Amino acid sequence: MDSYKMTVDDRKLVEAAGEVRVNAHAPYSAYKVGAALLDEQGSIHAGCNVENAAFPEGTCAEANAIGAMVAAGGRRIVAIAVVGGGDEIEACTPCGGCRQCIAEFADDDTRVILIGDDNTIGSYTIDELLPAYFRLEK
Ligand code: THU
Repeated sequence: MDSYKMTVDDRKLVEAAGEVRVNAHAPYSAYKVGAALLDEQGSIHAGCNVENAAFPEGTCAEANAIGAMVAAGGRRIVAIAVVGGGDEIEACTPCGGCRQCIAEFADDDTRVILIGDDNTIGSYTIDELLPAYFRLEK
């Protein structure tokens, strides 16, 4: 992962993602994920993964953070931080489905902030994470 110098806002998002990760309901995978995003109104929304005994019914942290943003009236993601891991935070990148969820509300310059190996921080655009993502013509 490329080295990246976090802004103050990025650092706040990484902290918020780490805080909400603690509340994840992940008894089946034992892998807790937290996501925190800054929307175009300047609000931060957070979400964690919520698993279910019926495994496919579980939801990812990013999708839950985005749901919180939409419910609060936000529509664009300025930046989103995602942190995950078992006992400790480790390198974690969003799954394919979550990349599509982020793409729905991302702009060309939306920053996806991720923790890489050795605790390095990376910042990516959605085009880097999901090139040629699906769009409906409207
Ligand atoms: N998970 C997320 O919350 N976001 C991702 O992008 C990857 C995976 C969750 C789903 C499941 O609860 C656990 O991590 C292990 O896959």
